[in-house]
Amino acid sequence: MCGIVGYTGLGRVEGADQATTGAAALPSDRPLDVALEGLRRLEYRGYDSAGVALVSPDQERVRSAKRSGKLSNLVEAIAASPLPAATAAIGHTRWATHGGPTDVNAHPHLADDGRLAVIHNGIVENFAVLRESLAADGASFLSETDTEVAAQLLAAEYRASGDLAAAMAATARRLEGTFTLLAVHADRPDTVVGARHDSPLVVGLGEGENFLGSDVAAFVAHTKEALELGQDQVVTITPTSVTVTDFDGSPAEGKRFTVDWDAAAAEKGGFASFMDKEIHDQPQAIADTLLGRSDVQGRLVLDDLRIDESVLRAVDKIIVIACGTAAYAGHVAKYAIEHWCRIPVEVELAHEFRYRDPIVDGKTLVVAVSQSGETMDTLMAVRHAREQGATVLSIVNTNGSTIPRESDAVLYTHAGPEIAVASTKAFLSQITAAYLLGLYLAQLRGNKFPDEIAVLLDELREMPRKVQTVLERSEYVRATARSMAGADKVLFLGRHVGYPVAMEGALKLKELAYIHAEGFAAGELKHGPIALIDEGQPVFVVVPSPQGRAQLHSKVVSNIQEIRARGARTLVIAEDGDDEVRRYADEIFWIPQAPSLLQPLLAVVPLQVFAMALAGAKGLDVDQPRNLAKSVTVE
Ligand code: F6R
Repeated sequence: MCGIVGYTGLGRVEGADQATTGAAALPSDRPLDVALEGLRRLEYRGYDSAGVALVSPDQERVRSAKRSGKLSNLVEAIAASPLPAATAAIGHTRWATHGGPTDVNAHPHLADDGRLAVIHNGIVENFAVLRESLAADGASFLSETDTEVAAQLLAAEYRASGDLAAAMAATARRLEGTFTLLAVHADRPDTVVGARHDSPLVVGLGEGENFLGSDVAAFVAHTKEALELGQDQVVTITPTSVTVTDFDGSPAEGKRFTVDWDAAAAEKGGFASFMDKEIHDQPQAIADTLLGRSDVQGRLVLDDLRIDESVLRAVDKIIVIACGTAAYAGHVAKYAIEHWCRIPVEVELAHEFRYRDPIVDGKTLVVAVSQSGETMDTLMAVRHAREQGATVLSIVNTNGSTIPRESDAVLYTHAGPEIAVASTKAFLSQITAAYLLGLYLAQLRGNKFPDEIAVLLDELREMPRKVQTVLERSEYVRATARSMAGADKVLFLGRHVGYPVAMEGALKLKELAYIHAEGFAAGELKHGPIALIDEGQPVFVVVPSPQGRAQLHSKVVSNIQEIRARGARTLVIAEDGDDEVRRYADEIFWIPQAPSLLQPLLAVVPLQVFAMALAGAKGLDVDQPRNLAKSVTVE
């Protein structure tokens, strides 16, 4: 939530030489270009408004521009009224919390007579008290934001100490809530200073230039070398140095890492939208998540877990915590892990887990699932679980993010950058990682024979090809979606692992097409929801595989008949060769045969395509749906 970028550079191609000779930075267009390019890549984190601030040795004050609405509004404003060359810049794309999405409330916020600019991600909870005390000291405020309070506080601290990093640390100590702050000051035209508390910030390390970003997407077009910052740290970048301290000013160190994807992975690659591209990335996302995690004998090798095997052997309960789509991946994990390992698994929304009194102990494994690795609700639940003595293993897509850093163990999904705000490929890779975890636990604990595990792994390795087949059949799904652009309510039914798939299908339709949608366990229908069915009501039904689970299959077929008898229009997802269901379906979307526990990887794909195509038919922006932001870093 909120995208943040910072840049400082020497302004010359021979920057590295200058670094050694100590020559001063020269103003150039690069700071603005890097800031705008970074914001373009971070816009998925919030798109209520955008702004930049620039400093330069030949400017007495910060120069800035900001506009409500999407980044394109800011770009147009700068084209109409150009900003001067600079040596350092900060940029912000906002998801509004305090104060509506207006030009005035957009970041940056200026203080110190226009000499200081601040951008912020998060919420300053004690902003009202601070605002009152700053106002009593003579500060005046232009906006309704909590950020302007932080800017005024930083200005006051800087006036007192004359040291921007020390002033930032002092400010951070006085703020309550969550924040990443970046600031530039006209007195320090080669410097960007930042602080983080429960909100993301990473450093990009260049030659004769350095970067800051909410995530690596901000700078990956320029450098893949990065530094992960810890909690409660202040970072100061100049073109040739990066200095990290704690909030009390003591020296601290970040952790270096190399970004394992390049900028092209975060481009649309010829697709009409990021969402379309990411749906088509799914076979690769599954394959990459499986890659290198088994040996030639078909044994799982999860070396990157960095956890003592004895801890996993002793586990007697698993609790999956996550939010939204990631939580639905957790529901699929429950069915698979309980079946393979005979360990009880609970799935709980992270924000609910945190505020109750969960029964966990040293034998509880809490599995936190998150694409971004930054979701505040999930992060807080991770901390809560560890405080209660649980071992936390996270399944995360984003390297350098906070949740893996605060977990005992991590299993990375390798879906690559997910830019569209609504999650697609992350979901499939999370489910894949959960299967790996389940099989690994079964292997460690001896719940399954090695040859059974090898067979299941082979089946898993077939899934990318099968997902590709579903994608190749998607034109019929798209055409159906286009014909349903007028729908105002769509229901989704599933049983067993089809139930989380139904919930995910409904979530995709709500987020992308703004259509009221509900996912139900098909067995629950008769207990109330069937009252919603009337003539022509579209209902998607995820039909389980008829192989192996005939009883489950016939129950769902009966459910289809029940709703059809009451006028529903049935849109059925069924396995190739399932002739029985054909006669009850108004529309049928075929998927390849697969073991029933693995079916979610296939069954959800037509639902993703359907939601995307229907939103497209309504003329909606599928990559940036209204009111949403990726990476929900506030509670
Ligand atoms: C839905 C969606 C959200 C996220 C949820 C968790 O399409 O994207 O429901 O799944 O906000 O986000 P992460 O996985 O980043 O923790």
